[in-house]
Formats: sequence, C-alpha cells, structure tokens
Amino acid sequence: MDRIVIERLGHQGDGIASGVDGGPVYAPGTLPGEVVEGEIAAGHMAAPRIVTPVPERVSPPCRHAKRCGGCQLQHAALDFTAEWKRDVVIRALAAQGIEADVRLTETSPPHSRRRATFSARRTKKGATAGFHQKGSDVIVENPDCLVVRPALSAALPVVEALTAAGASRKSEISVLVTDSDGGLDVAVRGGARPGPVAFAELAQAHDLARLSWDGETLTRRPPTQTFGRAQVAPPPGAFLQATAEGEAALLDAVRHAVGDAARVADLFAGCGTFTLPLAETAEVAAYESDAEMLAALDRGWRHATGLRKVTTQARDLFRNPLLPDELARFDAVVIDPPRAGAEAQINQIARARVPRIAHVSCNPVTFARDTAALIAAGYALGPVRVIDQFRWSTHVELAATLTLER
Ligand SMILES: C[S@@+](CC[C@H](N)C(=O)[O-])C[C@H]1O[C@@H](n2cnc3c(N)ncnc32)[C@H](O)[C@@H]1O
Repeated sequence: MDRIVIERLGHQGDGIASGVDGGPVYAPGTLPGEVVEGEIAAGHMAAPRIVTPVPERVSPPCRHAKRCGGCQLQHAALDFTAEWKRDVVIRALAAQGIEADVRLTETSPPHSRRRATFSARRTKKGATAGFHQKGSDVIVENPDCLVVRPALSAALPVVEALTAAGASRKSEISVLVTDSDGGLDVAVRGGARPGPVAFAELAQAHDLARLSWDGETLTRRPPTQTFGRAQVAPPPGAFLQATAEGEAALLDAVRHAVGDAARVADLFAGCGTFTLPLAETAEVAAYESDAEMLAALDRGWRHATGLRKVTTQARDLFRNPLLPDELARFDAVVIDPPRAGAEAQINQIARARVPRIAHVSCNPVTFARDTAALIAAGYALGPVRVIDQFRWSTHVELAATLTLER
C-alpha cells in the first residue's frame, strides 16, 4: 500500500502526485492537497482511498458519479472547478509568455446540455442505454442525469426502442439526441438500420422531429435551432454549441469583439451560430469546410427577415486559408477553429492586419499558441472570457478580442 499527496489536477481531471522515482502518479477522483493511499501500478493508483480530504471535496450531486464516465469532477466544489479551469487558461497563456486579464469562469447551469450521445446495447430483457463507465465499455444507465436537458433524459425510452430495433447484444450503437425547436432530433450510428416501414414507424411512434441512421434520414418536422432571427436545421450530427447559455456567452463576446464592423468574415462558421446573429448589423461571409452545414446556414438566412447579406464558401481553412488580399475587405474576423487551432489561417490574418478579431476556442493550448502569433504581429489581447459549457467535466472554452495596435 502506497501513500501519496496530490499536488495538482491533470487535464483529464485525475489528481497527480510525485512518485518515488520522480515520475507522476495519477489518482482518479482526488483533489490537490489530499493524502490518499492505494496500490500504484505503472504510474496509476486505480482505487485511491482518501485519507485526508480537502474542504473543496463535496459529495457528488449525481448518484451515478462514481461509475458514470460522463462527468470527471462531480467530487469537486463548483468554485474549485471554476477556478481550476480559469487557471488552465492562465497557465496555457503563460507558457506562451502571455499575461492576460482572465475573467471568472462562466459555468452553464445543470440540466442545460442540449445534446448527448448515448451508447446502447441489446440485452436479454430488451435494451440498455446510457453513458460509458469510466475507462470501460460497460454502459451505465443514468435516467436522472444532472447535465442534460430534461427532454434528453425523457428520450431514453426512444433510445432503447431504437436499440431493440437495430442493435445486437455483441456490439453497441451510438445515439446522438439533440433537443431542437421541432422536438427530438436523433442520429444513430452502428447496428443494422431497420427497414423503411419500421424506420418510419419508430420516428412516428416517438414523435421525432428527425430520425437519421447511418445516412438514411426521415424528417417529420424541421429540427431547427434558432440563431438570432434565423432558424437553421443543421445536418444530422453537425456541430452545435453544447448549451444555449454557453452559446449566448460566446456570442456576447463575439459581438463585443466585432463592434460596429460593417463587413465580417466568420471563419470555421459551422451552421451559423455567430454568422446569423452578426448579420443583424453587418454583412457576413461564412467559411467552413462542411458544405452541408453551410447549405443549412444559407437556407436559414434566406428564410429569415431583416438580415444583411450573408455569403458562404466551403473551404478547408487548414490547407487553404484566406489570404491577405481576400481578408483586406473585412473590418473584423471571427475565428472559432476545432481543437487543433488555426495556425495557418492565423498567420494570414496577422499578415492582412485585419483591425479586430474575435477569437473563440475549445483548447487553451492552441488558443495561446495562435494568440501569441497575433500579439507578435502587433495585436493587443483584451480580457479573456472562460466559458464552461461542460459542467463537472474537464473541458473549457474561451473567447477574447484582439485589436490591431501597431
Ligand atoms: C468549434 S466548431 C465552431 C462552429 C461555429 N463557429 C459554431 O459556433 O457553431 C469548428 C468548426 O470548424 C469546422 N472545421 C473543421 N476543420 C476545418 C477546416 N480544416 N477548415 C474549415 N472548417 C473546418 C467544423 O466543421 C466546425 O463546424
């Protein structure tokens, strides 16, 4: 039996202590300052016993927290997690030599996640659906999940019915459920898609807005999301911000950055989360690699009233970033890349000297790297907002304004 003192939290939420050989020892479910004991194997204490808890430890609000892999930080007080996430951002910026005004974390409330991917498998009695157990493919049923909107918890019988219809006991299916304006929007992957009649019956019996299953789609009502004055029906499984509250905070930061710009480029625009609200006051050109998402954005714009001109272009911004002569016509740029960041595109923006940039990111490390390149090119970084749409998890998002100064 070994005894260790936890020094910090790692990016996956495990506590980390120094082992006798100087290397890290990872201990799940522990917090900095805690004394814990257990068997250490290959740098992991798989089942730590908490000898001395810290005041930041709380009883997990969810009764499934020990087993369910959906949340990593239910055992930590919300204030602790909020400060830890803020600190993750501060450290990532500091690693690039950036000192910034990093604001307090804005955490989405419980029961606010508007989409979830459930894993499901057939059983002898019918079906089981839920989230994977931590580090395993066992499915934990979690009918009273504290993270998702009630509409998603209420969708579990639908997931079970789909599982009974098309999954086997050997392999599982994955069911992405999104709460849309039109009702439940369900996208299934894996298993054997039921025939057309059973497929339509399932969608009707559960009053789904849309059911899609590995490329086959049945739409009964438009599965729209509202972006400002526009309603957009994203393609099945397309990216959406995780909570309405997080989306509103990110949009607020983007609007602040863009200010009164008359012409805006929205890079990595998705289905228009930022494009369409910005089009209330500016002409917006949306760039994104997924043509179907852009088609949805365009349809949303055409059916909305009172918006300025919006154009779309499907483009791989990693391989084919907008060049300075293309960027020259914009007063502001919004950039919200995937986790890898947008090194190539950021370098072109720096060369183009676009006056204002709204920089949104889901990865503090690539955000810091790309921001450092902009600062080196003469931009000033404003306050950094830390926006947490993934309560009780280790994820964090951030948004900031960069203004050309020299
Ligand atoms: C974090 S999401 C942001 C989407 C949108 N701004 C929103 O808030 O809904 C990143 C987007 O980048 C797109 N994307 C990923 N790789 C890309 C690439 N190489 N070029 C252009 N877009 C890409 C994805 O399809 C996704 O829509």
